[in-house]
Amino acid sequence: MAMVCLSDFEAYAKKHLPKIAWDFFAAGADDCSTRDENILAYKSIILKDYFFFLALQNRFRPRMLRDVSVMDIRTKLLGTEISFPVGIAPTGFHQLAWPDGEKSTARAATAMNTCYIASTYSTCTLEEIAAAAPGGIRWFQLYIHRNRAVSQQLVQQAEALGFQGLVLTADLPYTGKRRDDIRNGFRLPPHMKLKNLEGAFEVCKMSPSFHSLCCLDPSVTWNDIYWLRSLTHLPIIVKGILTKEDAELAVRHGVQGIIVSNHGGRQLDGGPATIDALVEVVDAVQGKIEVYLDGGIRKGSDVLKALALGAKCVFIGRPALWGLAYKGEEGLQDVLRILQDEFRLSMALAGCASISEIGRHLVQFSKL
Ligand code: FNR
Repeated sequence: MAMVCLSDFEAYAKKHLPKIAWDFFAAGADDCSTRDENILAYKSIILKDYFFFLALQNRFRPRMLRDVSVMDIRTKLLGTEISFPVGIAPTGFHQLAWPDGEKSTARAATAMNTCYIASTYSTCTLEEIAAAAPGGIRWFQLYIHRNRAVSQQLVQQAEALGFQGLVLTADLPYTGKRRDDIRNGFRLPPHMKLKNLEGAFEVCKMSPSFHSLCCLDPSVTWNDIYWLRSLTHLPIIVKGILTKEDAELAVRHGVQGIIVSNHGGRQLDGGPATIDALVEVVDAVQGKIEVYLDGGIRKGSDVLKALALGAKCVFIGRPALWGLAYKGEEGLQDVLRILQDEFRLSMALAGCASISEIGRHLVQFSKL
């Protein structure tokens, strides 16, 4: 079968992965409304009001006759150039998708010259990830543990290994209720381990939700940004911001970036789609720090919409796992290349030859 769009990889992964792994990757919280809304919102933005539904349409206003013969889709993440504005969001347990796990992810991201955010819940060690693709652009995603020494050691190890950013995930004081994982009794197969936490906990015997319940620290607050700052020189990016209030707090606490994210709809069900929350966050930070987005990116035109609404870069979660499930490193490169080609084409058809020409003028908001 020719793989021409990301849905082809999704269909392949669904057919070939064991059901328990597919369900874990696909899971959203509760009845999955936010997970599904992340995707639907790119088609039309529906704002729920208290008393009635307000509908806003979200369409391009493409410009014509603008010489798009030479396209430049490169951009910068905190000063580092990447080949196009799509990176890989942190997701756990890549060995469930492909035996080489996160090592393949690191190689694919490096081959495509984009950023890979490695999860605390990786099934390869940070050393293995760094060694698999030396010189790659990589950030480390942190869940803060109750045992702060464990988190401190991970942060300092990531910095020593050349990771260039620290991503603090803020939206998981507890794990959202993912019904299929409960029904399936999801846990890692015995031969897979949360390699970066080995020794610290008996994690292999636990389900991830049980691990987060007993080991992650739900008392984390904005003050802990200062604690992280005392541990590392790395830029700090907060992931999971959805409101202007929190965006302002992020700026005030001196972080370098925000990822507008709802964890792929796996945490609070009923929260906004990320593309709907983006403008509020972008307006609140007033260009003081970089704003990125993840959630529901499935086509090049989704990337263009997110950039038009102010995101500097977007990240993909599940599509990266589908690529790995298809053919490991090669499959993930295919996914990234398809998104890259689609994004370049969407830009050209909208009349933009470079990223700097993308702006809000490209998107029309109209009340229905
Ligand atoms: C995630 N996500 C996530 N986030 C994080 O900060 N640390 C993690 O370990 C994980 N693990 C994880 C596993 C799986 C299977 C999924 C699907 C997601 C959330 C992830 O970083 C990102 O926010 C979403 O996946 C983005 O939505 P899409 O691209 O999957 O629609």
